[in-house]
Amino acid sequence: MTPGTDQRDTDFTPATAVAHANIALIKYWGKRDKKLNLPAAGSISLTLDALQTETTVAFNHDLSSDYIELNGRILTENEAGRIIRFLDMLAGPGRAFASVKSMNNFPTAAGLASSASGFAALTLAAVKALNMHASPEELSRLARRGSGSAARSLFGGFVEMRRGNSDNGQQDYAVPLFDENHWDLRMLIAVTSDKQKETGSTEGMERTAATSPFYKSWVESQARDLDEMRAAIKYKDFEKVGTLTEHSCFKMHGLALSANPALLYWNSVSVEIIHAVKELRKQGTPAYITMDAGPQVKILCQPEAVPSIRNTLETIKGIKSILECRPGPAAALKSLEKVYN
Ligand code: DP6
Repeated sequence: MTPGTDQRDTDFTPATAVAHANIALIKYWGKRDKKLNLPAAGSISLTLDALQTETTVAFNHDLSSDYIELNGRILTENEAGRIIRFLDMLAGPGRAFASVKSMNNFPTAAGLASSASGFAALTLAAVKALNMHASPEELSRLARRGSGSAARSLFGGFVEMRRGNSDNGQQDYAVPLFDENHWDLRMLIAVTSDKQKETGSTEGMERTAATSPFYKSWVESQARDLDEMRAAIKYKDFEKVGTLTEHSCFKMHGLALSANPALLYWNSVSVEIIHAVKELRKQGTPAYITMDAGPQVKILCQPEAVPSIRNTLETIKGIKSILECRPGPAAALKSLEKVYN
């Protein structure tokens, strides 16, 4: 403690954490409990090195309200609602207000899994700033309360989110399957729109569960997809991983389309890319599509396929940018020296 510093303030040392986004290979789409944010089924994802969020949290009794800044812009109370509710859950009643400053190194509005890296970094930084001690399992359970996919972003490489059997969510957390050095894959992200998505994942999955006639079969079919994906990743069977990834994606989007009103996340450029990748495959380039609750198209491939996929994407008008990602590392705290130097 620095001499002369107020003891009350030093109880709350600021903390900074970095987390990477992840893209699900076997998708999460549906909850069995809204309040605890428990998934209806498990999911498997790949953490990506190129998409990163850095968040600094400082609790301070002298603040008169929470201060939440994202990419240099102060969020309104409404925009910050989910973050504030998360801090309330984490720190409990009567907590000190917090200053949260978060930066994404990728376009937030493009809907590129920013809630996954965002809540993972926030969880790690806030837990540290509160001087709490939490195991990786506990951290993942906490991050899940912020956003289901964030539970996976605490870990690097290939990660599985488990669906527990109890109502209290104690078994609903993510576990690392294989770290980022297990397999050198690439994910190319074709950004086709920078508009904020119309219907976010939370609302989309709620509508799907309530109205799709196929929801029950979707949930029931997940266990087998997860078993097959786990094995395919272990044995580095790229064709199998790609086929399962694409199948899970189209199954999820088919399900979303069967909601009422329908959820259509694709734009015409997304469809053009889907056809182009199918054609590439026909010509012998192994590449597979996945998409989330937005029109960006992610293409999973091996390193040697990158040039021909890029060549093809460059012929498609309407692609705004292409991001190239490798398997990324686990979330981590930054040391104070690094933060302040
Ligand atoms: C389509 O994790 O954003 O990206 O738990 O309601 O915050 P909440 O949902 P979120 O859903 C992600 C859905 C998805 C598929 C996936 O990442 O598994």
